[in-house]
Parts: sequence; C-alpha cells; structure tokens
Amino acid sequence: MALVGFGLTLSVLIVLVAVVFQNAESPFTPIIGLFGFLPFQQMLGETHCYAAIKTNSDDKSQSNCFTVKNGLFERVFSNQSLGKSNTKTGYVIPGLWDGHGHLLQLGELRNSVDLFGAKAMSEVHERIIEYQSHHILAGTSEQWLRGVGWDQATFGKWPSAIDLEINDKFRDLYVMLDRVDVHCIWVSKKVLSLLPNPLPEVPGGEIPAEGIFCDNAMEIVLKHYPEPTVERKTKFIKDAMHELNKFGVVGMHDAGVTPSHLKLYETLSLDENWTVRVYAMIECETRNTFCPNEAIKVETPNGKLRVQSVKLFADGALGSWGSAMIEPYSDKETSSGSLLVNSTTLTQLAVEWAGAGYQVNIHAIGDLANRLAVDAFEESLKSLCPHTSLRDCQSRHRFRIEHAQIIHPDDQRRIRDLGIIPSIQPTHATSDMYYAESRLGKKRTMEEAYRMRSLLPLGPVFGSDFPVEPANVFEGIFAAMTRRNPRTGLDSEGRKDGWYAAEAVTLEDALQGFTVNPAFAAFLEGRAGTIETGHYADWVVLDEPLEALDDESLRFATVRETWVGGKQVYRRPGSEDLPSDAV
Ligand SMILES: *[C@@H]1O[C@H](CO)[C@@H](O)[C@H](O)[C@H]1NC(C)=O
Ligand SMILES: *[C@@H]1O[C@H](CO)[C@@H](O)[C@H](O)[C@H]1NC(C)=O
Ligand SMILES: *[C@@H]1O[C@H](CO)[C@@H](O)[C@H](O)[C@H]1NC(C)=O
Ligand SMILES: [Zn+2]
Repeated sequence: MALVGFGLTLSVLIVLVAVVFQNAESPFTPIIGLFGFLPFQQMLGETHCYAAIKTNSDDKSQSNCFTVKNGLFERVFSNQSLGKSNTKTGYVIPGLWDGHGHLLQLGELRNSVDLFGAKAMSEVHERIIEYQSHHILAGTSEQWLRGVGWDQATFGKWPSAIDLEINDKFRDLYVMLDRVDVHCIWVSKKVLSLLPNPLPEVPGGEIPAEGIFCDNAMEIVLKHYPEPTVERKTKFIKDAMHELNKFGVVGMHDAGVTPSHLKLYETLSLDENWTVRVYAMIECETRNTFCPNEAIKVETPNGKLRVQSVKLFADGALGSWGSAMIEPYSDKETSSGSLLVNSTTLTQLAVEWAGAGYQVNIHAIGDLANRLAVDAFEESLKSLCPHTSLRDCQSRHRFRIEHAQIIHPDDQRRIRDLGIIPSIQPTHATSDMYYAESRLGKKRTMEEAYRMRSLLPLGPVFGSDFPVEPANVFEGIFAAMTRRNPRTGLDSEGRKDGWYAAEAVTLEDALQGFTVNPAFAAFLEGRAGTIETGHYADWVVLDEPLEALDDESLRFATVRETWVGGKQVYRRPGSEDLPSDAV
C-alpha cells in the first residue's frame, strides 16, 4: 500500500513530542523502566486456567493452564486438580500477528470518511457530507478532509475534482480521498490550487483524470499535505491498536514507516498503552533510497517495538493496471504496467541495505516485479555470503516479498530454491478475484496468481494489508481456507466452490501464517507465535475451540479477550468472566 502523508521533520517532531508528554491528558504517558509498570502479583507469577489451550508448539501434550511472570509465560501445564473454580471459561489460542499492515494509516482511516463499499457517487457525497457535519475542522488548509475506499469501477469512469464540489461549502474545502487500494488519491479543486501548473510528469506515476493522482504522481500532492499533529498521530496509533486488539491481534509488521515516525513509535512504545507489538520496516522519507543515517535499529526491552528491516517498492497495484507484468495485460494489451524503480537500482538498493545489516522486504505484485525482486535478493545473497549456500544465507537474512501476488512459474521455482519468504494477504485474493482473471487471462491466473498452498513450504507470512482490507484475522483465515470472500461467503461466481480452490490451505496452515510464520519472519521465533515457557505472554480467548467453528462461524468469529505481555488489553463487552461451572 502507498504511504500517504506523514513526513515530519525530525527536529519539529522532537519538540512536539516533548510538548505532548508534558500534557497530563495525553493518552500515552511515558513510563521508563522495564518492569516498573507490572502489577505486583505479576512479578510473583499469576496462573490462568481455561477449558483448553492450543499452544501451537511442538509439544503436543494437552495443557489448560499457564503461569505468567514479568510478561512472559513461566510455565505451561495441565492441572485438573486446581479445580473448576479456578478454571475460566473459554478456549485459548496464541496471540495473532498480522504480517503486513499499516498502523498509522489504520488509525487515520478510523478518523476519516469511510468510503468502502459506496455504491455510487451519490453515496460518496452523502457519506462525506455526513462526516463533515460532525467534524467541522476537517477540510481546512491545516487539516484536510480525508477519506479512503472509493473505486472508479463503481462510477464506470475515473471521478474528478469537480465531483468534490458537492455544494457551496465544499468548494472551499481541502479534500483528499484514497482509492480502495491506496494507490491513487482524488483531491478537490482547493487542493489542486496549491499545485504547480502545468503539473510535472512523474515517472512511475499517472494522472488519469483532473484531481486523480496515482502511484508516484501522488507525491505531487503529498508535498503540500499538512502533517497531522503529533497529538493526532498519537490518537491514530491508540485507535488503531484498540481496533487490532479487538481482533485478537497482539503484533503486526508495519510495512513502511518513515524514520521520523519510528522516533515517535520509539517514544510511545515505552508506555503500557502501546498494546500491539510492532515489527516495523523502514521506508526512507524518499521512497526507494538508501538512508542508513536516518534509519535506526531498535529493539525495546519490553518487546513492543523492533526495527531491523527496510521496505522497497518495485511496482503498483493490479486494480489500477499499475503492477509490472512480463507480458501485457489481457484486458489492456497496450500496457504491461510500470516499475517504480529499474532493476539496476532495485538490486543496488537491496545489496546496500542487506550489507548494512537490514532484512530487505520488497513490495512486488506483478510477475515482472516479482522476478526483479528475486534477482535483487539473489545478488544480495551472493554478495553477503560468497562462500556459503545462498539458501543458508537466506535463512539468516530472511528476505521477503511483500504481496508476492503474481509470480511466473520459473520464479516460483527460484523462490522455492532460495527459500525467500512470501508475505501474502489472503483477503487480497478474494477481493481481487472478481477482476484478476480479466486482467491476467486464464492461464496466467491459474499458473501464477495468488498462490498460497503451493508456497506453504516457504513458511508464508499472512496479513491483511490493513487498512486496505479489514484487520480481522478471522476473515483472513476464512479467505485462506476457502478462497471465498469473507464478506459474502461466496466465490467470484457466487458459489461456494472457492476461487482456484487448489490453492486453499488448511486451518492449521492458516493459523501458522498468522502466528509462527510472522514471528520467524520478524526474527522472533522462540519469543512469539506459540504458548511456551519463556515466550511473550500474549494470548487470545475464544468462545469455542477454533477447530469447532464451521466456515460460517469462522468468518463471523469474534474474540472474547486479548492479552499482551500478561495484561488484558481487550475484553468483548458483555463477556463477563464466569467460572466454567456457572455456565
Ligand atoms: C492507559 O489507558 C487506560 C484506558 O484508556 C487509562 O485508564 C490509563 O490511564 C492509561 N495509562 C497511561 C499511563 O496513560
Ligand atoms: C496442581 O496444583 C496443586 C495446587 O496448587 C499443586 O500443589 C500441584 O503441584 C499442581 N500439580 C501439577 C502437576 O502442576
Ligand atoms: C535506473 O534508474 C537510475 C535512477 O533513476 C538511473 O540513474 C539509471 O540510469 C537507470 N538505469 C537504467 C539501466 O536504466
Ligand atoms: Zn501494504
């Protein structure tokens, strides 16, 4: 997903952070010291027993209790003799990880107009007007009115700036709305008035209509975008974390964070209200560059923030014909998409970042982009490990392809040989299935697109790419298992067969994709992803065992409680903790 906005200079940021933290009403107050915030009984060890615990570990013995001390699991055991009165209802699974999302953007989305699923221009207008009536400040030059979720397919053509002149009041408002895939923005005339005339040509960018800016062309607008204040960003993060905890998410890989935002994360992550572990990928202030001096490697002692990877971008998205293909699109034969960077530069950047000790994660959607990503990784591995096997080298450096959506069979073989980690979003497959085959044709779709099952030996990381898709992990598990849309329960033909169902995975494999695999891909094996002695005490309580849910219950599943570092961070309203003998 494209990162929109948020480039604040460091000096300004530090001053603002200082101001925020002198304000007692701030949602985050820094508390320094590793265990200073742990309640007293947690230092002694606290025992939790449930109906059953799915530990996800290699140890297959049945456990139903664990003891938590200093934020870690101290002991996992079975103790029938503890008696019913100490056993809580509910079924435990390990805390869930989203392997690819965007934290600040999720929070910003929750503080902007939701245009997802709007069926016509009139509905877009209604939602914007409704939102503006409750957010009087939105639309000023200091705080543009933001929204996300529109899709030109619903209008039958690209919208334009004129469409945002809804009435007299709106003629004066600064409006910027992200396309559903966040690869294009749609802005009002007031925003256009800030831009140079004529507009510059930007390689890797398109301006398909007045007021629409795609991929690299978004930069033309974003230069003028007024940064949200640190107070607002802090609120965005808090809102996003609450939303994630609601879905049982205890950790996420943040797929592109600028160095200045990493500074903000570093400060805020010391607080107890930072309730999601974040493994962040650095994205330089100028995309696709080498910025080791601004970058920081971080590992906070409380395990809430870890930074040692970088995000590069090879291409755009399939929906807007932006992904770079080896052969032209089947429904647009004059185009094979575009690269955001040429292969020489991509390889050079990968080699440089890898040489500086960073895991390199390349966004690649189209089969050409995926091929160049593999080329870049291969060169990096050769330069890192001239004397050992590239596969061993890769198992230490763990390079990843973000999205890994359309991969030529030759390159699937290379990825398997090298052991490159695919980072996959199962719900992208079920959102894109309506048009993917027309873009790609039958053969390419069948052989190359949205592979899951055939990539399982690589330990694929599963995620949602929130806020592009909902952050609901159960929808992701459902999509991976059934290859059907979790919102309708149906495949692209309106049936229950599943879209290219040969690529569906089992429940166990889907769960690995949202637990153990993202832990490994974040160098957190032995600490996250399973319930074991010495691991982070992160867990989720469900009403029923995961295995007991049929498809329909799975896509509507909700969590009862989420715990991070031995602390309850979410409880579903109304789910009072009754002892099991009272049920
Ligand atoms: C953390 O959040 C809770 C609930 O919103 C609040 O009661 C508490 O004061 C916060 N703690 C800090 C240190 O800000
Ligand atoms: C079970 O609990 C009892 C009482 O707390 C304790 O004495 C005993 O050692 C426990 N047994 C096991 C196997 O953990
Ligand atoms: C690749 O892009 C870089 C940076 O834009 C440029 O300097 C270089 O000449 C390009 N190389 C090729 C082979 O096109
Ligand atoms: Zn993304």
